[in-house]
Amino acid sequence: MSPAHVGPTDRSGDGVVILAVETSCDETAVALVEDGRRILATVVASQVALHAPSGGIVPELAAREHLRWIVPVVERARQQAGESSWSRVAAVAVTEGPGLAGSLLVGINFAKALALARHWPVVPVNHLEGHVYAAWLGDADGELPPAPEFPLVALVVSGGHTLLVEMTGHLEYRLLGQTADDAAGEAFDKVGRLLGLPYPGGPAIMRAAAGATDRALTLPRAWMGDSFDFSFSGLKTAARRIVEGWRSAGGPASTQVAELAWAFQEAVVEVLVAKTLRAALERGARSVVLGGGVAANSILRERLAEGAAAMGLPLHVPRADLCTDNAAMIGAAGYLRLLAGRSAGLDLDARPSLPLAG
Ligand code: KG4
Ligand code: ZN
Repeated sequence: MSPAHVGPTDRSGDGVVILAVETSCDETAVALVEDGRRILATVVASQVALHAPSGGIVPELAAREHLRWIVPVVERARQQAGESSWSRVAAVAVTEGPGLAGSLLVGINFAKALALARHWPVVPVNHLEGHVYAAWLGDADGELPPAPEFPLVALVVSGGHTLLVEMTGHLEYRLLGQTADDAAGEAFDKVGRLLGLPYPGGPAIMRAAAGATDRALTLPRAWMGDSFDFSFSGLKTAARRIVEGWRSAGGPASTQVAELAWAFQEAVVEVLVAKTLRAALERGARSVVLGGGVAANSILRERLAEGAAAMGLPLHVPRADLCTDNAAMIGAAGYLRLLAGRSAGLDLDARPSLPLAG
């Protein structure tokens, strides 16, 4: 059976259950997902508070925290799903990359140990495809969102990546564009720090921008010619110059912080939306998918939804907690990989720079 022909069973309780593990960055996450779409349990232990004082992730600390939390998080997921769901687990899916090597290794080793003990196949998943497949997920006791139709164009915007991909079918990715320098989330985090906002910068900038009364400031957009590539480092430099100017005048005042947060968010969102919609048009897409931590940004969601609607295209965007790192998305992609026969041996290793597509 090819994954393209597989749909979820009609009701929860009959399908294939995947136990999913995600530890690629600073979230220790475990989920149980049925048929790649229904979330039976999802538990995320965030390290945000741990890394906040340094304003960024400390890899060594992140790996140690994963080691400390992985067992309690699995136990919590097991309780949330209940013993009957746990007993139906058919495979363990785990993020293979991209991500921090030490962090990935904790999840991979744990998944391999479970697989060995329980005779489960272990299914490696690309973290970035997880962000795309979050759009298929819904709660087990609620209504599933409509499934995106192929061909589709997906924008994945996270702390480490900014990619535009075309999918002609399940698990088939063609890279259309990516960032030449900073990822969109990384730019949010850096500009947040520059403005003295708490870590991570993305949600903090969104909140600050919402309070902007003066919206006259405009920052440069890097269009990168006709390509579908992105660049955010020039924008960050422009923001830095403005802040330095304010500092030498004794600022910035909170109104200035809000003004710059607004201008920065506008510049990032405008380029992301314009390129995604142009890609959808050029590739004849039937749907648009948005994923990754930055997809939690309400202005980005609104603008892309408006633009896609104007083109008669449905936009599929997961709810905010499924945009940021979680394991349910790994279970969604893992299910399709299992059906496609793409499980791994117990020699599975971490691939910190794993690309989604060539
Ligand atoms: O996907 P994710 O949770 O982790 C990675 O795979 O990197 O993305 C984290 C990124 C961070 O850079 C964070 O600042 C950004 O997503 N982010 C946001 C928002 N919420 C999280 N960026 C803009 N607006 C938000 N509301
Ligand atoms: Zn991510």
